[in-house]
Amino acid sequence: MNYLTHLECSLNGETYPFDQIHGLSPAGRPLLARYDLAAVKAQVDREVFATRNDGFWAYRELLPIQDWPGVPRLGEIKTPLIPLNNLHGEQLIVKDEGRLPTGSFKSRGLALAVARARELGISKLAMPTNGNAGAALSAYATRIGMQSIVVCPADTPQINIEETRMQGGQVELLDGYIDDCGKRVRELVAEQGWFDFSTLKEPYRLEGKKTMGLELAEQFGWKLPDVILYPTGGGTGLIGMWKAFQELTELGWLDQAKLPRMVAVQAEGCAPIVKAFQEGKDEAERWDDAQTLAAGIRVPMAVGDRLMLETLRESNGTGVAVSEAEIVSAWKSISQRDGLLMCPEGAATYAAYLKLLEQGWLDADEQVVLFNCATGLKYPLP
Ligand SMILES: Cc1ncc(COP(=O)(O)O)c(C=O)c1O
Repeated sequence: MNYLTHLECSLNGETYPFDQIHGLSPAGRPLLARYDLAAVKAQVDREVFATRNDGFWAYRELLPIQDWPGVPRLGEIKTPLIPLNNLHGEQLIVKDEGRLPTGSFKSRGLALAVARARELGISKLAMPTNGNAGAALSAYATRIGMQSIVVCPADTPQINIEETRMQGGQVELLDGYIDDCGKRVRELVAEQGWFDFSTLKEPYRLEGKKTMGLELAEQFGWKLPDVILYPTGGGTGLIGMWKAFQELTELGWLDQAKLPRMVAVQAEGCAPIVKAFQEGKDEAERWDDAQTLAAGIRVPMAVGDRLMLETLRESNGTGVAVSEAEIVSAWKSISQRDGLLMCPEGAATYAAYLKLLEQGWLDADEQVVLFNCATGLKYPLP
């Protein structure tokens, strides 16, 4: 049974059919997939998800897929929740996305987007990436016989470049940032007939990221933690989880009305969303000279800026920027105290946690989830 009904412009609510190819809406904003949630509520029991063992594909009634036998599968799992007992006790919990195929949460969004692209008859996928997304795109595209090319900054972690090529994706390196890579992708689209697969520029990657929120709800017994700290680059995960919580609320599937406060964590060397949040703005300005060792969150400008800022405000959340020294120190203490090798982006969330604790923005007895979006093994270690 499929419940997808249409796509909706995130700016003005205009609607579009889902069986046609779409990029951004005519207003230049991301399109959101909408479902017949009343029918889902009437026909689906939330307990069914725990009985399925195919990872994020388990939430199929809330996903846009039309042709289930055709989806690319590489052994998806529901990722574990790991409390940092030694550092902080049971209330500080890491959601370890590094256990997914391709070693990062990018599997979720790209598997969904690739599957939908195939259904819509698209075969050549082009995307800018800071690394992990490119690896996930090449893996899932290759899995179902599609072509992929990614453009990434020349100083992207070497392993990401190599794994992408090894899995059959083409890689172009460019001396610049991810938004410069996005411009090169637009040239490839215009000149060589590739489809622009940039995050939020097609509607379905967000639906994959949404499964992080659905999975958290299921794992927490249909209650949600008090606070979620998310390492924020393009922000698709932040926006996707918030969309999941809205859908779950509409479905009446959450056993408590209060939703988590969402926190965008960025590096001091590239913090456009934190800055815009602190200045009370609705849109972010491009961050010049972006620098951080946490490559995944080095995003000077994001098309989802408005949606991210809305999410932070609606959820009573906040934005926190952390220094490179704080990231490295957090990275080491989690590894050395709890034996969990995070990625630097994930470590940044622990550094932010410590800041928020010190500022009194959160209490030690609140239940907090830190997102570790990739395995630490993909990075040169400090
Ligand atoms: C490890 C890691 N963490 C966080 C992010 C940021 O994710 P998002 O684009 O959803 O903000 C990325 C994106 O590349 C990443 O690779």
